[in-house]
Amino acid sequence: MNKNLRKPVIAGNWKMNKNRQECTALIGELKPLVANATCDVVLCVPYTNLETALEQSKNSNLKIAAQNCHWEKSGAFTGEISADMLHEMGVTHVVLGHSERRQYFGESDGTVNLRAKAALRAGLIPIICIGELLEHRELNITNEVVGVQTKVALSELSKEDMKRVILAYEPVWAIGTGKTATSSQANEVCKEIRSIVANLYDQATADGVVIQYGGSMNAANANELLNEPDVDGGLIGGASLKAQDFASIITAASK
Ligand code: PGA
Repeated sequence: MNKNLRKPVIAGNWKMNKNRQECTALIGELKPLVANATCDVVLCVPYTNLETALEQSKNSNLKIAAQNCHWEKSGAFTGEISADMLHEMGVTHVVLGHSERRQYFGESDGTVNLRAKAALRAGLIPIICIGELLEHRELNITNEVVGVQTKVALSELSKEDMKRVILAYEPVWAIGTGKTATSSQANEVCKEIRSIVANLYDQATADGVVIQYGGSMNAANANELLNEPDVDGGLIGGASLKAQDFASIITAASK
C-alpha cells in the first residue's frame, strides 16, 4: 500500500492550556505559517476556547476539535458536553480515550466506544487514542494491550464509519515525558494496529485508515517519525503550544 494515498493529519492537543486571548494569538500566528500545508491540521482546544478558535480559524485550513464528548445527545449529565452540541457549533473532530482521561478520569475502553459511536452519529470525526503503559511494554504485551483497546473502541463501527475514524497510537510512557518512541517502535505498533483493523474489516479499510503517532513528537523528531510507512501524522501536545514548533511539524508532514 502506498502511504501517499492516506492524507496525514497533524493534530495539536492543547490539553488544559491557553485562555481566550492566548488562543486568539496562537491561531493568528499559526495561520500564515501553515496556509500551504498539504496535510490536515486540527487544533484540539479546551471547550472554553471552541467558539474563539472557530471564529479565528474561519477562511483558513485549520479545523477545530474538542478533547472529549459525551455519548448521549442531551440529558441529566452535569458537566458534560454532547457530540451533537459540538457539531452544531462547527467543530469537526473530537479526541476520545486520551490516556490522561483514562488515567485520571476513569475512561474505559467501553466508554470510548460509546463516545466514538455518538461522535460518528453526530457527524464528527473521532480521533481515538490507544497506547500501552511502560509496564505493558516491559512485560512484552504491547500488542495485546493495543489489540484489546482497538477492538473494544471499534466495536459495532461499520466499514463506512471507519472511513472517518482516525486512530492515534500514543504510548503512555512517551506522553509529556520527552521520551519519544523510536521511529521503528512507533511504526511497529502503528502497523500492528493496521493489521488489527484488517482483521476486523478488510485490507482496503486498513489501508485507508489514518493512524497517528503521539508522545513527545516535536520539531526535531517529526520528520523521522512521519517518514515511517505506517505513521500517518501526529497528535502533538507540548509542541503544539508554540506556533513555530507546531508549524515545523506540519511542514514535515506536508512533504
Ligand atoms: P506530548 O503529548 O506531545 O506533550 O507528549 C501528546 C498527547 O498527549 O497527545
